[in-house]
Amino acid sequence: MANHLSPELDRYLVAHHASRSPILREMEQWAKENDFPIFGPECGRTVATLSVAIEARRVFEMGSGVGYSTVWFAAAVGPTGEVVHTDGDAANTEAARGYLDRAGFLDRCRFLNGDALELLAQEQEPFDCILIDVNKTQYPLALRIATEKLRYGGLIFTHNAIWSGRVADTSDLEPSTVAIRQYNRDAVDHPELMTFLDPIHDGLAISLKVGEAHAAVKQL
Ligand SMILES: C[S@@+](CC[C@H](N)C(=O)[O-])C[C@H]1O[C@@H](n2cnc3c(N)ncnc32)[C@H](O)[C@@H]1O
Repeated sequence: MANHLSPELDRYLVAHHASRSPILREMEQWAKENDFPIFGPECGRTVATLSVAIEARRVFEMGSGVGYSTVWFAAAVGPTGEVVHTDGDAANTEAARGYLDRAGFLDRCRFLNGDALELLAQEQEPFDCILIDVNKTQYPLALRIATEKLRYGGLIFTHNAIWSGRVADTSDLEPSTVAIRQYNRDAVDHPELMTFLDPIHDGLAISLKVGEAHAAVKQL
């Protein structure tokens, strides 16, 4: 997926980030065989590391699919944490339940069906981490809702931030590309977010919500 890298470097990074968990490997194989998009072990390792670093306990996923990303977050939040899995397709939710059960994390997951943006807007308590991986044209609106529902010091992770490199091709005006480009601009310019665009996999935008106390970092 990381087609902006040389094939050799891509293979090297993929080999070093490979999952060790049998259930994750099984899901990766299933996703490959069924051409189902997952954010892969590179993003998984990144979100899990940073979630542990900020001691995340409450995670909301916008677009969870069959639960591959959910497994990474569920491991990171620990036994007292909660990960909200959302998907518009009930078949994906059922598949995710099965995988999370077999991974031993069912009790720390909440499964919601419907539009992830609407579902997040209905949540009352703030989240430590939010994943954005829905339809790409929804990204700019998803960012606004996610920022509002995120605690200060929390992280937003957004998959497909480079969209196979198409974000940099200004002649590409396909709606998904335009929306991701808009997302990246909004996330970088947002007055409360410190954002960087990590080119791993298909790109992972990582935004830290910063308050007044860290206003100086936004001037850098
Ligand atoms: C790229 S896949 C998710 C992959 C998952 N995050 C992972 O890395 O394992 C995107 C999923 O989001 C779902 N989806 C897309 N837009 C959505 C929306 N607005 N609300 C809920 N689910 C949505 C799709 O049905 C699909 O299963």
